[in-house]
Amino acid sequence: MKIAVTKEIRADESRVAASPETVKKYRALGFEVLVETGAGDGASISDAAFAEAGAEIVSDAASALEDAGILLKVQRPMTKEEGGVDETSLIKPGTILIANMQSLSNPEQAKQMADANITVFAMELVPRISRAQSMDVLSSQSSLAGYKAVLDACNEYTRALPMMMTAAGTIPPARILVLGAGVAGLQAIATAKRLGAVVSAYDVRPAVKEQVESLGAKFVAVDEVASADSEAASGYAKEMTTEYQARQEQVLGEVVVKNDIVICTALIPGRPAPVLVTDKMVKGMKKGSVIVDLAVEQGGNCPLSEFGKVVEKEGVILVGHANVPSRLATDASAMYAKNLLNFIEPMMDQENGSLAIDWEDEIIKGSLVSRDGQLVNPALRADEKRQIGEAPS
Ligand code: NAI
Repeated sequence: MKIAVTKEIRADESRVAASPETVKKYRALGFEVLVETGAGDGASISDAAFAEAGAEIVSDAASALEDAGILLKVQRPMTKEEGGVDETSLIKPGTILIANMQSLSNPEQAKQMADANITVFAMELVPRISRAQSMDVLSSQSSLAGYKAVLDACNEYTRALPMMMTAAGTIPPARILVLGAGVAGLQAIATAKRLGAVVSAYDVRPAVKEQVESLGAKFVAVDEVASADSEAASGYAKEMTTEYQARQEQVLGEVVVKNDIVICTALIPGRPAPVLVTDKMVKGMKKGSVIVDLAVEQGGNCPLSEFGKVVEKEGVILVGHANVPSRLATDASAMYAKNLLNFIEPMMDQENGSLAIDWEDEIIKGSLVSRDGQLVNPALRADEKRQIGEAPS
């Protein structure tokens, strides 16, 4: 069977869905691998490196997809409606597409894929169970984003982060507040600590307090009683009541203005990002303070941040870079590629080198979007109301 790896064509995307390491592994598993020329350019992986690992380099996406059994991508394919190249029309019926499909935000594309008889696995829907940790693209990419967010803040901040005692005077350490202490937030805390800042963090889920403190940061508590009901069965945060949000605004109003840098990472799956840093709080911050809003794609934790831009408002610099994991394209690609390999490997019948997918497996059922011309994922079907992250029945 052939695996195709095409060049990502969406704006701000430099990653690639395979690495020389995973190509070697796919070859050892008995696959042929076709890589579109230049697919690794943005991640500093040359055609020669892919070829040396055993891939065949082909001139365009159409050639890679001609008789591919599996297509590996980072982003969901570009559609005709989105203009430019129509990647979807190049995918032959019966192909298995494995990508970060953003299916819940793009249900019409999921339907389109089902109608085209393409079997789609959405990596963002892989259930977050222990067995699937090595396939968890949300974690691998968020980890890098959390790290990079702190570096992006440093780049815009016109002061140093660590305390410096020099003959020319003493520089106090920067104060960094991390909002949302999930995968990205915890990595941001660890990075900020390593750079010498004084770090505090807030999350609506009380279970996070211990993790924040174990990294040496101070946990900001809002309302411990109300927080007890903040976590859904899936482990994700719920949207909080208006009373809680008012209390949250009051507490954060006092904390935000005491910090020099705020790293925003708070998200609620399938919902707009919660607003945590209001216009009034931004106004109260010191000039030259920096807010990095990793939630900007989902509307932002700060309404003043702008997607894909670095802007200055009220003397505060708001960083809203698009696709932050892609800003570390080499490592992000290597980790994403490994996640995909770990996802595909259990699908293989190692003895006869063919695919033997267990359609009843929890990970397969959770991530499968379409099969045999049907939209099958319960999170996407209008007739079922399963929550994201809930185990499939
Ligand atoms: P995420 O990216 O959906 O959200 C980031 C953080 O924002 C979360 O910690 C969330 O609690 C927080 N948040 C949401 N609303 C908030 C608000 N109003 N105020 C403050 N913070 C708010 O979450 P992520 O990082 O993807 O992790 C979600 C869950 O998944 C966690 O419980 C984590 O432990 C779990 N997980 C499990 C894995 C596994 O394999 N078992 C792997 C990775 C994560």
